[in-house]
Amino acid sequence: MTINIEKVERYIAAQSEEVCAFIYDLEGLNKHISSLLNPLPESVQFYYAIKANSDEQMLQALLPHVYGFEVASMGEIIKVRSISKDVPIAFGGPGKTLTELKAALEHNVSLFHLESQLQLDRLNWLAKQQGKVIDVLLRVNPSFSLPDATLQMAGKATQFGIEQPELELLLEKVADFEHLNIIGFHFHCISNNLNETTHIKAVEKYIDTALQWQQQFNLSLSTINVGGGIGVAYQPEQRAFDWSHYCEQLSLLLKDYPSINIAMECGRFVSAYCGVYLAEVTDIKSNHGEAFAVLRGGNHHFRLPSSWQHNHPFKIIPREAWPFSFARPELSDSPITLCGELCTPKDVLAKQVQVENIRVGDVVMFEKAGAYGWHISHHDFLSHPHPERIYL
Ligand SMILES: Cc1ncc(COP(=O)(O)O)c(C=O)c1O
Repeated sequence: MTINIEKVERYIAAQSEEVCAFIYDLEGLNKHISSLLNPLPESVQFYYAIKANSDEQMLQALLPHVYGFEVASMGEIIKVRSISKDVPIAFGGPGKTLTELKAALEHNVSLFHLESQLQLDRLNWLAKQQGKVIDVLLRVNPSFSLPDATLQMAGKATQFGIEQPELELLLEKVADFEHLNIIGFHFHCISNNLNETTHIKAVEKYIDTALQWQQQFNLSLSTINVGGGIGVAYQPEQRAFDWSHYCEQLSLLLKDYPSINIAMECGRFVSAYCGVYLAEVTDIKSNHGEAFAVLRGGNHHFRLPSSWQHNHPFKIIPREAWPFSFARPELSDSPITLCGELCTPKDVLAKQVQVENIRVGDVVMFEKAGAYGWHISHHDFLSHPHPERIYL
């Protein structure tokens, strides 16, 4: 999906002060999520990982479509429960405390992704006190190799999941956890994979491994969570993840496993496209032979580009009005670095990118900014005003 540019231009034209805003297109999101869910096989339970963008408007828009929401904190549980008392919630994350687990049970969380023996011990203890038996998936940090992706959470030393040899030892004593019902495994191993062929191969390996454990340890599995991690092509030379090809391959694969539900928990691929970040150019200068455009905004609002050290895709929206008698700085047919207003050289959103023309007063529109934008940023560093956040 691409955001409606006319609506963005109308918003910009109506501003009397320097533009700084996130604009999210809910109508576009609605169409996008339908296009993601329609080709999926029926046995797929599609969760939205709300960490990518947990605004109430997003959750409300997605609620009629998704099977459930994946959360990673008590705050996220409360956000979901404030829009629905009963939508399924899957609770993941490496740092679940006793307090959080207890509160999650009170908030009717239906599925727990457990990441260590201690998490099993804690939840089993709580469930025993409450006379409950709770459905859990064990999060695996596999020993097998995984596809290339921008971020790798497993298949190597990280804080995530239970490493395969330790997990196999744990599975020998599942009977000790009388109040936990181990209904499957959770594999969120990679993030931002653009290659649907390697992704489906990884899913196949997850299923194979889980079913092998089912046999070896006499388990009764109903669910295998294959995580999120579907990538967004931020760079012009990158090929986009082919979702329809992926769904075709997945449908073929799942024909062989009619009794297993596959859970997915995607964040980026759901919400990235529905948002843009607008930042007005407030100065243009040259330093040591390089040009810089300073923006009303920066990585305190939109940390993704500096966090990933990439040039974020953008368009320049020209504005003709210049009501001053002093000169309007501009630059044509040159490389320029787009940087934010913070007092740190790290505040860069695109480095030495070629532009046709850029002037002070124009607005830079960063695209694909609906996921991991505002929600991963350090909003109050330097105490600049927050961006407006508009839901169309
Ligand atoms: C456990 C878990 N599941 C799902 C996601 C969503 O991943 P993505 O946005 O890559 O789809 C994340 C992201 O960090 C995660 O940590």
